[in-house]
Amino acid sequence: PPLSRILSLADMESVARQVLSHKALAYYSSAADDEITNAENARAFSRFFFHARVMRPVSSCDPSTTILGYKSTIPVFVSGAALAKLGHPQGEINITKGVHPLSLVQMVSSNASLSPSDIMKAASPTQTLFFQLYKHRDDSIAEKRVRDVEALGYKAIFLTVDAIVPGNRERDIRSPWVLEDQEMGTAKVFNDEDESGAAGGEANIFGTAGALIANDDRDMTWEKTIPWLRSITTLPIVIKGVQCVKDAMLAAAAGVDGILLSNHGGRQLEYSMPPMEILYKLRMQQPEIFDKLEVYIDGGIQRGTDVVKALCLGARAVGLGRPFLYAQSAYGVAGVTKIVDILQRETVTAMRLLGASKIGDLNPDMVERVDWKPR
Ligand code: FNR
Repeated sequence: PPLSRILSLADMESVARQVLSHKALAYYSSAADDEITNAENARAFSRFFFHARVMRPVSSCDPSTTILGYKSTIPVFVSGAALAKLGHPQGEINITKGVHPLSLVQMVSSNASLSPSDIMKAASPTQTLFFQLYKHRDDSIAEKRVRDVEALGYKAIFLTVDAIVPGNRERDIRSPWVLEDQEMGTAKVFNDEDESGAAGGEANIFGTAGALIANDDRDMTWEKTIPWLRSITTLPIVIKGVQCVKDAMLAAAAGVDGILLSNHGGRQLEYSMPPMEILYKLRMQQPEIFDKLEVYIDGGIQRGTDVVKALCLGARAVGLGRPFLYAQSAYGVAGVTKIVDILQRETVTAMRLLGASKIGDLNPDMVERVDWKPR
């Protein structure tokens, strides 16, 4: 269908589902075990209702913010997801170019199908790119990677901590790599691995994720890993994959610059609590943490109202993973720009109807968590 017929992120996903190869769709859409957490990530937003304020001037409404000090037109960023080339020959660069008109920040995956340098080259000089780090178990290899991306101009390190072993993604495991997919994906899949090719065995058992993260550090700790990372980079450090209030507190104590409440889009620990619920608990139990570091969430975000609900509870910004993969697969650069436009329009509409003319007007009194199920 023409792009003008795409009204929502759900519309975009349905086009992507028609154009993606069987393997790409299995890899992009799959989640752990029975995919309960993945579904609940999205459903969690439906338990939060607004208390809209009326009679407030909203003819001008500014949804812009900063993320780690970098400007963003809306409080939304791209969460790093692997292998964009599985869905479109230009891969991650579609996202880089597509978010540029609205100055969104793109977090680039350690397992992107293009190199950090090629993606940086596609960015305009004013654009902000963050780097998602899967820490190699060999500190010196990990250090080189961090120094390389810092030198390239990446502006923050998002250290992923929820994927020390691959989740059990059965739809991905069932769907084998075929030859043409290998040309696009597997060359990169094994890029990060040691020469022995040891990852191949794990790939058979754990699917794509097994091959991608086979050499990652499974023994990271707050005491050891954060000081190590601080000692090798001047960039802000964000922990991606915090899944409970206690770890949020430990992250704050470790002095990181931000936390991304995330369960990897339901792809890792099945029955991990939805990030929106963790955000709510954090706001209720530890409101002072929001003054110490920036808090973000990702997982299941589909609508401007989802964005605004998270912002009301104190999130600085929200990330989206699959929606960007689907948009670039369906329409390349234009598809990415389209979903950013949709998110901006929906966010502004929600803010206006809520009586907020700027991000600073959003506050916890504007949302209530309900126990009844709306559907
Ligand atoms: C991911 N995610 C991810 N996270 C990460 O830290 N490094 C990675 O390489 C990847 N790769 C990846 C691939 C695919 C296909 C998906 C769907 C996800 C997780 C991602 O950053 C993010 O946390 C989730 O995608 C957010 O959930 P939604 O927006 O997809 O519901």
